[in-house]
Amino acid sequence: MGEVYEKLTRCYESVRAQTDFEPQVALVLGSGLGDYASGIRVKQTLDYSEIEGFPVSTVPGHAGKFIFGYVGDVPVVCMQGRVHYYEGYPMSDVVLPARLMKRMGAKVLFLTNAAGGVSLGMRAGDLMLITGQIASFVPSPLIGANIDELGERFPDMSEIYNRDLIMIARKCASELGIDIKEGTYLQFTGPAYESPQEVAMARLLGADAVGMSTACEAVAANHMGMKIVGISCISNLACGISAVPLSHKEVQETADQAAPRFKALVTAIIEEIGKSCG
Ligand code: HPA
Repeated sequence: MGEVYEKLTRCYESVRAQTDFEPQVALVLGSGLGDYASGIRVKQTLDYSEIEGFPVSTVPGHAGKFIFGYVGDVPVVCMQGRVHYYEGYPMSDVVLPARLMKRMGAKVLFLTNAAGGVSLGMRAGDLMLITGQIASFVPSPLIGANIDELGERFPDMSEIYNRDLIMIARKCASELGIDIKEGTYLQFTGPAYESPQEVAMARLLGADAVGMSTACEAVAANHMGMKIVGISCISNLACGISAVPLSHKEVQETADQAAPRFKALVTAIIEEIGKSCG
């Protein structure tokens, strides 16, 4: 067994020693959704620090725990706080939580984040359904010996964001009267925000939003055959598109303002996933 898989197994055993909860959906809470757990029927929480070997986030506003509970009737595990590559962890640690949630039983990975809007027409406070991604600016989490227990060496990436889940998300947004944008998410390493020239490049490459997470998690989850759905909260216009300098505070404040819509949409999508993919 390779080192990465061994560590995953240790984490899994540590979780299983503390809970037998089996989630159907794994939800990663980005900025703006951090307190999402207040709206779900919580069964149990587990601090990341209670899981042997689990990477613990260092970013302010990214408290670290798993929340096990129900959205409607759907069993979910929520990650309150994710680990970012810019914190200095190896990519295998950054995607360990996604792999662990699959191991717990989750078939769907619901990724959320705060992102900078790049394409014309994006406004701060918009929600964007992620329909595709560019992960080429961060190392692949699949580099190194392939973990055959998880997936194949050369996985297909033609449909990272699941078409059925995209349709569900569109339908839910429309029923809630939310004018959701759609587009391609590009991950940079961060932690610095992009320069105006990098944002111009991202736009030239076809990105609609830029951020510092998500795409690597989606690559690892797709490798394992999970169905993925992703929503970005456009917390700001990316550098050079916005006239004002960026700050983490502004990003969080705008994400907080969008939070009620963001939460309602996430809830509706999860309930619909429970009905149609259960
Ligand atoms: N760039 C990168 N990451 C981000 C941004 C941004 O403008 N906003 C929120 N996360």
